[in-house]
Amino acid sequence: MSSYLIAPSILSADFARLGDDVANVLAAGADVVHFDVMDNHYVPNLTIGPMVCQSLRDYGITAPIDVHLMVKPVDRIIPDFAKAGADIITFHPEASEHVDRTIQLIKDHGCKAGLVLNPATSLHYLDFVLDKLDVVLLMSVNPGFGGQSFIPATLDKLKRVRELIDASGRDIRLEVDGGVKADNIAEIAAAGADMFVAGSAIFSQENYQVAIDAMRAELAK
Ligand code: DX5
Ligand code: ZN
Repeated sequence: MSSYLIAPSILSADFARLGDDVANVLAAGADVVHFDVMDNHYVPNLTIGPMVCQSLRDYGITAPIDVHLMVKPVDRIIPDFAKAGADIITFHPEASEHVDRTIQLIKDHGCKAGLVLNPATSLHYLDFVLDKLDVVLLMSVNPGFGGQSFIPATLDKLKRVRELIDASGRDIRLEVDGGVKADNIAEIAAAGADMFVAGSAIFSQENYQVAIDAMRAELAK
């Protein structure tokens, strides 16, 4: 895998032809499929579940699937996503009664585990679990919808998490989700992110490869 990972959020894909759309975005150079799961309870929107993840696998999608759970309570659905082909499972601490237990549950099911922090959620949640995480995901919008604007305070938060990860000496991805576009991705990378979720910025374009190439060009500067 390259040092920077681009993870299109399929929230902005065409759900009526999802398999083709995901295959196309991967053929256009995406590294990871970002799979947003919303429950109309933890967040005010409703999307897709394990059956759709399994359908993508059955269709022949072999790329890593990064399942972003915006679901409360979260534990019950984790084994289902592991069975359905998830590689990474991330969750919000506010959606778990026992954060350490949920991380362990994900790992026990053979997936990489990530904690997601909303724009107003404190970094203190990382204090006693960072050494167990494979991914820290910072939300740069409030979760629930695609197409929102990047919240600038995320840049300072990214810098602080980058310092924590580097000090840990562990191989932990720093993922950012929300409002990422070619015109801000360089600044976001400079703040420390190395995994970039982008939904509307990729799927709203006629040519996904042009959109992804524009992001990679910015990252190479
Ligand atoms: C928001 C989701 C995001 C969203 C990003 O709750 O977690 O993954 O799809 O969409 P854009 O890139 O359009 O902000
Ligand atoms: Zn997401």
